[in-house]
Amino acid sequence: MREHDSFGPATMRRGRRKFDDDEADFVKVGRLEPALAEDPDLPETGDRWSTWDGALHGPQPRPDWIRTEHGAVDTELGMLKTGKEADVFLVRRELPGTGQTSMIAAKRYRDGDHRLFHRDAGYLEGRRVRRSREMRAMTNRTAFGKELIAGQWAAAEFGALSRLWQVGQEGGTISVPYPVQLIGTELMLEFIGDWETGEAAPRLAQVRTDRDGLEDLWRQMTEALSVLARTQIAHGDLSPYNTLVHEGRLVIIDMPQIVDLIANPQGAQFLARDVRNVASWFTARGLTVEPEALIERLSYEAGLL
Ligand SMILES: Nc1ncnc2c1ncn2[C@@H]1O[C@H](COP(=O)(O)OP(=O)(O)OP(=O)(O)O)[C@@H](O)[C@H]1O
Ligand SMILES: [Mg+2]
Repeated sequence: MREHDSFGPATMRRGRRKFDDDEADFVKVGRLEPALAEDPDLPETGDRWSTWDGALHGPQPRPDWIRTEHGAVDTELGMLKTGKEADVFLVRRELPGTGQTSMIAAKRYRDGDHRLFHRDAGYLEGRRVRRSREMRAMTNRTAFGKELIAGQWAAAEFGALSRLWQVGQEGGTISVPYPVQLIGTELMLEFIGDWETGEAAPRLAQVRTDRDGLEDLWRQMTEALSVLARTQIAHGDLSPYNTLVHEGRLVIIDMPQIVDLIANPQGAQFLARDVRNVASWFTARGLTVEPEALIERLSYEAGLL
């Protein structure tokens, strides 16, 4: 059996370029050609053995592009985006010599002091952490506590994506990236974008389209909101920045703060805020949408009225 512990991110050999660009076209990928390894413990190509073994895996039925083989290797192609709470990297996982390749967005939650904790309040109502030692560590923001908090966000996002991906499989009209695996504070997701060039799909905020295009995107947005409401959850941070548009398909991302509409006393407010956030983007582009009527319908669908 291979020991994956020795291949963690800390032992990655190459320095990574950082592109902290909040605007459009922030995607800069390092290289798409395989690198050759000098260390005999490392695979001949790629940066490290796949971390699939020992990770928590995404829901079944697994898409056929998922690479589960022991001989698969991971190559880090560069940073996609550095965010407020996490950094997102592009990773290629492939079985060398076979052309069987998958492209993965690796979202790594920060546990250090650079992370902003704005999402830690409010959203946590209705959730519980059982062990008091862990609760104390988190409250006191010890290093261990920070790591735990970061891990909780990663796990919450993995859980939310798993649930919504399954809802999508069962016919729900919602698209989210398939959650490939979770290890600690790192979440690996289906890369939404061009798998050949490594170019990520634009965020809704960057999309320019005609009236028909706008209408279609708004229809997809309302359908996704309806699926969320009927699943009795609110995204909690829905915006044109947390929505990607890939080949005309709207894909919802970034949901560690997902809100249980029934358990969270502020659930209805989160739902309304999500709707207003996205509606105002469409309104600013000249589309007539009726957010208040939609909020009422969604609240009804969620069983809140
Ligand atoms: N699965 C994915 N496929 C392609 N790009 C992705 C994927 N997940 C995230 N990204 C890119 O990385 C960016 C940041 O991801 P995300 O919003 O999940 O993290 P974040 O830390 O909350 O970032 P921010 O603070 O900017 O909201 C996204 O806006 C998107 O451009
Ligand atoms: Mg985001």
